Amino acid sequence: MPFPTAESDLRSRLERELGESYAIQRELGGGGSAKVFLAIERALDRPVVLKVLPPEATVGVDGERFRREILIAARLQHPHLVPLLQAGTVNAEAGDRALRWFSMPFVEGQTLREQLQRRTRYSVNDGLRLLRELASGLMYAHARGVVHRDIKPENVLLSGDAAMIADFGVAKALDDASDGALKSGKRVTTVSMALGTPAYMSPEQISRAPMVDHKADLYAFGCLAYELFAGAPPLERESLRATMAAQMQDPPPPLHQIRPDLPEALVNVIMRCLHKDPLQRPHSASVIVKVIDEVQTGTANGDTAHGGTAHGETSNSESPGAGSLHARSREAGSRSGDRAAREPVTIYVVPLLLMIAVVAAVVWWVFLR
Ligand SMILES: Nc1ncnc2c1ncn2[C@@H]1O[C@H](COP(=O)(O)OP(=O)(O)O)[C@@H](O)[C@H]1O
Ligand SMILES: [Mg+2]
Repeated sequence: MPFPTAESDLRSRLERELGESYAIQRELGGGGSAKVFLAIERALDRPVVLKVLPPEATVGVDGERFRREILIAARLQHPHLVPLLQAGTVNAEAGDRALRWFSMPFVEGQTLREQLQRRTRYSVNDGLRLLRELASGLMYAHARGVVHRDIKPENVLLSGDAAMIADFGVAKALDDASDGALKSGKRVTTVSMALGTPAYMSPEQISRAPMVDHKADLYAFGCLAYELFAGAPPLERESLRATMAAQMQDPPPPLHQIRPDLPEALVNVIMRCLHKDPLQRPHSASVIVKVIDEVQTGTANGDTAHGGTAHGETSNSESPGAGSLHARSREAGSRSGDRAAREPVTIYVVPLLLMIAVVAAVVWWVFLR
């Protein structure tokens, strides 16, 4: 059991320790291993979410290191990332372990998981919009050295038209600060936040490779994007163990066979995210953002779905990102050509006219006066 203390014990313990700052309202549901409460932050009279990590999260975790990692995550500020507001520890007492907690704004709306349960498959345009928001959040955090490690529809909160990624940096903070107790295989289901969720977990996370970086988030993003359009993640199986084995060795079924209406460039970049080898995935979320921008611009220009060679994409599923980058650089080249053609007007012609005027004045002064 992740929380050996009775529910009410946990709640009263929190109320005792944090009650001055927060009025705890109710527990928010969720399949995670943490406890999540809706609370009112008294000082500002605003709703916040208090998340209490499972007690395992304090066993073998270097508190100072965890704090440092959380501080890095706390610096993230982006419209599509749920920010961290506060973090702290409830001290151990009478047989109960210390508890780590943090707070974040309460995002009113639903999770992407809840939405997927209602509408099975996304349209091309809605999917592109959502994926662009998520990819831009990933791009921002990755550029600041923060990885998520548990991208999944449960961690995408939808409020109005906007999507926000929750829990950024928390899994990595826990994982990096843990001494290995947390990393043993049997913890995979209980401390999923530290290890990922099998249907979205990259092969390198499953095999506990020493280098798990932002490419693991791109893999999970690929699984999530696939699910948006196909109705299920690519390699989900009957059991967690079978799912993990599939992530390690099975090829994902081609997305274009399930959704032939999707633009080819989009399908290619999603499939490339799902590559077992991190080096074969897009080098950064910026590649995904660019591809989506191109597809959206192409669609706006009357470009047709699936078969987006107009974007400079080849049918080679290994290189959608590279293809689109080439297309981009061609585009950029022709744009800079335009600029070069316009530049002499301001840079050369004006000084030339001035020089002619000066020469004419000198000639008039010397010869004609
Ligand atoms: N900032 C938030 N605003 C609103 N609801 C939230 C927020 N964070 C989490 N939740 C809700 O609490 C649930 C549990 O969250 P969590 O413990 O992270 O587990 P999981 O992400 O695995 O579902 C989420 O599924 C979501 O419904
Ligand atoms: Mg979550």
